[in-house]
Amino acid sequence: MLIIDGKKVSLDLKNELQTSVESCKALTGKVPGLAVIIVGQDPASQVYVRNKAKTCKEIGMFSTAIEMPADTTQEHLLDTIAKLNSDPLIHGILVQQPLPKHIDEFAVTLAIDPAKDVDGFHPENLGRLVMGHLDKCFVSCTPYGILELLGRYNIDTKGKHCVVVGRSNIVGKPMANLMLQKLPTTNCTVTICHSATKDIPFYTRQADILIAAIGQAKFITADMVKPGAVVIDVGINRIDDPSTKSGTRLVGDVDFEGVSTVASAMTPVPGGVGPMTIAMLLKNTLHSFQRQNGL
Ligand code: GUN
Repeated sequence: MLIIDGKKVSLDLKNELQTSVESCKALTGKVPGLAVIIVGQDPASQVYVRNKAKTCKEIGMFSTAIEMPADTTQEHLLDTIAKLNSDPLIHGILVQQPLPKHIDEFAVTLAIDPAKDVDGFHPENLGRLVMGHLDKCFVSCTPYGILELLGRYNIDTKGKHCVVVGRSNIVGKPMANLMLQKLPTTNCTVTICHSATKDIPFYTRQADILIAAIGQAKFITADMVKPGAVVIDVGINRIDDPSTKSGTRLVGDVDFEGVSTVASAMTPVPGGVGPMTIAMLLKNTLHSFQRQNGL
């Protein structure tokens, strides 16, 4: 069984991005800039946001993390986004989700200039993705990272049956639409399963490529996987584990131990899809800079 090592690929990507940032600087005297907004104190979101800012600095990009209290008004958040939209030092804007309940997430998504929407959540970017104009949009980072992994590991996807479990706007919907496109790392027949699907194992057992983005620890078990399938695990779930120092442990949506006896290739958690998401965010920010500077 092949382990698809997202940690290693993300390090290779960061090195490539660092070189690209240096050449941007040499050509224009400027560097790509990313603004990350976080509203409230969700500990997991705080970790993600700090990692994003840290990785930006490592590869020579400019980054700013804007931390707002949980009771921030929607108006204030929208004003902040408007300022970043017209800030020439900022090429990418990301508002960390989930947002507090009193803020309308869709209104926030619409407020970000599509040309700086490095999350790829704006309908203009998602619409272009669905229509196959991938060179003229931002692809959301997690699905984009999965495509990169499939490509770098030369996974044969053409004509294969890809089953995506999960229909979120962040992962499931863009992922399924990408796998449908006619690209070297896609070109699949696609099935999407979700919480109302009857008999999910009936579908997952037909998958040559199984992408699990459900948000439930170890949901996909060995009996749900076709022998030889490629299994991509998007889940990050914290479960109790008294044998560890912290008393908890991160696991994916796939039961790694069981499924590894049937799959031909798998992404681990941690160290699979997760590190790729940040790398692709920086790649999107670089692309944004290059587009805005005519490079
Ligand atoms: N929350 C979980 N994943 C993401 C992501 O990729 N982008 C944003 N903005 N929020 C998230």
